[in-house]
Order: sequence, then C-alpha cells, then structure tokens
Amino acid sequence: MNTAAIEHLPRVEAGLHYLEPPAGKPHWLEFEPPAGVPRTTAVYREHTVAIRDVRPVASTLSLEREGFQLLTAPSSVRDFDDEESIRTRYYAETISLLEELTGASRVVVFDHTIRRRMPGATDRTTGIPRQPVPRVHNDYTVKSGPQRVRDLLGEEADTLLQKRFSVINVWRPIRGPVQDSPLAVSDARSVRDQDLVATDLIYPDRTGEVYYVKFNPEHKWFYAPAMRDDEIMLIKCYDSVDDGRARFVPHSAFVDPTTPAGAPPRESIELRTLVFYG
Ligand code: OGA
Ligand code: FE
Repeated sequence: MNTAAIEHLPRVEAGLHYLEPPAGKPHWLEFEPPAGVPRTTAVYREHTVAIRDVRPVASTLSLEREGFQLLTAPSSVRDFDDEESIRTRYYAETISLLEELTGASRVVVFDHTIRRRMPGATDRTTGIPRQPVPRVHNDYTVKSGPQRVRDLLGEEADTLLQKRFSVINVWRPIRGPVQDSPLAVSDARSVRDQDLVATDLIYPDRTGEVYYVKFNPEHKWFYAPAMRDDEIMLIKCYDSVDDGRARFVPHSAFVDPTTPAGAPPRESIELRTLVFYG
C-alpha cells in the first residue's frame, strides 16, 4: 500500500479512544473489581480520525510492512457456539493457513475469544459475553511477547526464543456482514515507539502487559466495511525482530457513523497464535 493510494480510499470519520499521557505506569483489572475499586488508572480521550476502507488495497498488504492483512478464508466451522469444533477444526484450519502464508515452521494457537456486543455493556462484566474493545491497544509488548512463550511452552521456550517468532491475531466475524462496532487497525509504519505505553493487565492469577496508545495525528487507520464471515483480519501484535518491519499494530473497535439503524450487534471470534520461523 503506498501513500498516494491511501488518500483516495473511501473513509468514515469516527472517534477512537486514546490514552492520555499517564503520570505512572497504568494498570487495568481484568475482572470485575470489588465495589468502590476503579477498573483502571488509565485516562482515555476520544479523538476523531479518518478510518479508510482497506478493501481496494487489500491485495497489497503485508504482515511485514503494514502488519495486518485482510484475506478471504472460509471456515468449515458452521457453529461457533460449539467449543469442540473451535478447538479442533477451527484451530487446525488456522494453523494450516498461517503455516502456508508465513512459511512458519510451527504455529501454536493459545487462546480464543468470542465477542457478542450487548448494547450498553462493558467488557469483563460477570455473566455476559466478552464485549468489543473500544480503546486503541496492542495485545503484547516487548516484554509480554516473549513472556507468553515462556508461560505457555515451558521447557521448550529457551530454544524457541533463540529464533524469530511473532504473535498474530486472527479476527473473524461469526455473524457477517459486520456493520456494528467494526474493528479498526493501524498501519504499523505510522506508529512510533513513543506512542506506545506499557500497561499492566491484572488477572486474578497473573499479570500481563499490553500497549495502550497516545494520540498521534500521523496514525493511519483502516477497516473492512461489512466484513463477512468468510474473511479474516490478521493482526500482528508482536515480532521478535526489530529491523524496521511491523512489530505492533494498534487496533480498536469503533462506532461507525454509517451503521444502519437496527444492524445486528457485532459477533466475532479472535484466535491468538504464536508463529515460529526457521
Ligand atoms: C483483538 C481485539 C477487540 C474487538 O482481536 O485483539 O482487540 O473488539 N479485539 O474485537
Ligand atoms: Fe486486541
């Protein structure tokens, strides 16, 4: 995708929630906090940005340059309520696809999340489905990328960490086309390291780390309008190699001003994968 082509893409103007420059390291509680305890110390502010239709340039995208890719990739899974089909068939399909696409020697799917928006609800509320994430973030940091390999792969980790690996999310509508609460992704080349703020995610049993993102008018945003359930968005959230290629791709759900009234609430599934090379 080149800069001149970007200017002519159809676009919507929408609000994205960015982190205000924090005083100390922010944290988030990834569970419902006890009464009176705030969920986070982070402060967000909405900025209106242009989010462009990536479809006209989809075939030019690369995981190494922009850090995200939109692909047509129908799944044989019909029922994403069926955990067993997800863990067997859907994981296996995704592993094959990533191996073929990236030339990886090994792909490990370590997590999946189904999100079903419920108007008015916030994420991590007990008893309801996971909700879209309306804040600009990247799932892993320079620290938590390798940490995830250590936590998940134990004894093998030291050997695996000597070679290149990346963390790639695979995002798919499960009830397409998505018109409500779509996902915006940024071109990794438009994001500077100084825009990224490491933030602790505190779970009941462990602490993870993500990047929240400070506003920078240089960020270039994209989405796939009316994304179908035979399409996937690959989002690179970490790369162990720091040589100018894409390493972090901030992303966020957003309210699309062109969403028709009565559009069904968004339903999606995302897989998190470790991709090892060489
Ligand atoms: C992701 C993600 C948020 C959403 O897939 O990593 O942040 O709203 N998803 O789907
Ligand atoms: Fe994410």
